[in-house]
Amino acid sequence: MHPSSTRPLLLETKRTLREWVVREKRGGKTIGLVPTMGYLHEGHASLMRRARSENDRVVVSIYVNPLQFGPSEDFAAYPRDLAGDLDLCAGAGVDAVFHTSDDQMYAPDFSTYVIPDALASNLCGASRPGHFRGVCTVVAKLFNLASPDRAYFGQKDCQQVAVLARLARDLDFPLEFVVCPTVREPDGLAMSSRNKYLSPAERETALVLWRSLALARDLVKRGESDAAQIQGAMRALYEGKPGLRTDYIELVDPGSLAPVSRIAGKTLVAVAAFVGKTRLIDNEFVAP
Ligand code: PAF
Repeated sequence: MHPSSTRPLLLETKRTLREWVVREKRGGKTIGLVPTMGYLHEGHASLMRRARSENDRVVVSIYVNPLQFGPSEDFAAYPRDLAGDLDLCAGAGVDAVFHTSDDQMYAPDFSTYVIPDALASNLCGASRPGHFRGVCTVVAKLFNLASPDRAYFGQKDCQQVAVLARLARDLDFPLEFVVCPTVREPDGLAMSSRNKYLSPAERETALVLWRSLALARDLVKRGESDAAQIQGAMRALYEGKPGLRTDYIELVDPGSLAPVSRIAGKTLVAVAAFVGKTRLIDNEFVAP
């Protein structure tokens, strides 16, 4: 039992993280890793609780990874709140938080990258060039540093989950890759640290992502199997809404992420849109 008042151990260097990991492993403890960029919310808390229930020790990394942001993206503005994050981690029974600096993670002459291939070419990979190279590189480093028995990721970032599960398999990281369901606000909006950017009017507009996924689910339930028809109906919900710009509305195979033209089996419906300046993503599985 982990009392919610216990503060996690704060590990600020790679060395202190490694020492903690080696100590715990020597004592026969299993380790669950929850990689995050901080500004934690209930979605992250659900990953931590799952990790808590499946491992002897839980470590959360909080690191806004510059390598996964494009030059015109929100790296500098990305919300940060370490004190609030530590409270949330304490409440979820987290043992240790790895919160380090850019110079710890990237030497000035850093020059080795993990570059995903096919799974990263469409969806977010198409609109955010280099994003998954940054994600894969930092996550490979975190896997090496924390040597987790299990690593936890949220389904909300569906392409990230596909790309990173493939990375873990292809590069033989000896860990169990655990995907947890998306946590939503009561009105359906997927929880995201970037929701903080939304004005009240944008927050209302942002509901279109969830509504379009619900529409896709209903259409499939009523027997529609033509992907173009479903995409068209979804797209109509986005059209004419001020301050809203669709990035993509795609129906893809969950394994390969390749577009499908007919819903013949379990299919991933993935959407991305700019609400004002904020880019939001969401997804849902549908099946005939
Ligand atoms: O999902 C995120 O917050 C990030 O992409 C991750 C996995 C922590 C890597 O920086």
